[in-house]
Amino acid sequence: MMRGGGGLSRIFSQAVGDSRSAAQRAAGPLCQAPTHTAAAAVGASSSAEIQADAAAAASDSTGSRWKLSWKKAGLIGLGASLAGVGGLALAEEEAEHGLHAPDYPWSHNGYFSAYDHASIRRGHQVYTQVCAACHSVQSLHYRNLVGVAYTEEEMKEAAAEAEMEDGPNEEGEMFERPGRLSDPLPRPYANEEGARYANGGAYPPDLSLITKARHNGTNYVFSLLLGYRDPPAGVHIREGLYYNPYFVGGAIAMPKMLADGGTEYDDGTIATESQQAKDVSTFLAWAAEPEHDERKLMGIKWIFVLSVVWVTAAYYKRWKWAPIKSRRVIVDALN
Ligand code: HEC
Repeated sequence: MMRGGGGLSRIFSQAVGDSRSAAQRAAGPLCQAPTHTAAAAVGASSSAEIQADAAAAASDSTGSRWKLSWKKAGLIGLGASLAGVGGLALAEEEAEHGLHAPDYPWSHNGYFSAYDHASIRRGHQVYTQVCAACHSVQSLHYRNLVGVAYTEEEMKEAAAEAEMEDGPNEEGEMFERPGRLSDPLPRPYANEEGARYANGGAYPPDLSLITKARHNGTNYVFSLLLGYRDPPAGVHIREGLYYNPYFVGGAIAMPKMLADGGTEYDDGTIATESQQAKDVSTFLAWAAEPEHDERKLMGIKWIFVLSVVWVTAAYYKRWKWAPIKSRRVIVDALN
């Protein structure tokens, strides 16, 4: 092979030029990067020549450049293998922990944003009409919704529609009475065993804190509810389970619960599937963090008050220290 006083690129183009394999020609401009790896990747047919080339090159003036090239090659190789390992880890992570839910722009996300209370109200209606058949929200009482999504009269009426067990009466018997504001929202099952029995062994968890109990909670619940798909080719889902890539393991015992028109909203909103998912997710986010609005408001108030205090303190300090700091002490020693 010819080799002159030319630079690296010339040596490279000769090394490649003489023995360009079909694969490399197909790869086109990618292979024209002046690195030794690229040349080495051309194929077994040229590697011997390249090694000979490299040995010869190391002894001539371009030697130091070849060294640099090896370093680069090493780095590129390391980068590629890290990317490969990263990709594999990600795939494994998804299979094990479920597909990661995207971040949705919830209207309460901002530092200064409160919940969309109309959405909480609709979400409560989705919960009552759809989810309450299987899931409890133990920590919620009717009174919690007063002033948040309903007026007191509305909630009293809603509570009175439910039959609550109370007692014992004077005869020692438990009895049923209409619900009151102080009652918890009714539970669909008396205990976990009953819930499991009715759901093929799976336990529909209490939803009070679900947006806190799952990573990326609100986004997860939203994605999960809308995430039902046909399983991809080669994936078999056992009878009684449903394919949902957002759920850990991809097979969930909860059937797809939302469908267009599945809820009757009292504010006339059209109950599309995603509308219901959004509303019930907002409702559950509120249930898990009812202090959210108050917390942000208090945060803003405190930061405001503390900054006023800080500015005042800083001013006061300078004011007090000014005569001391600007004083010049003259020692006038007499002999
Ligand atoms: C027919 C009964 C049924 C209904 C109705 C139902 N679910 Fe479920 N849900 C289940 C069962 C069963 C599970 C447990 C699934 C499992 O462990 O495989 C579950 C699990 C869940 C989970 C937890 C998933 C996890 O990560 O563990 C969430 C969140 C959830 N449901 C939300 C809802 C919401 C919101 C609604 C109303 C729109 C709803 N469900 C309606 C039966 C139901």
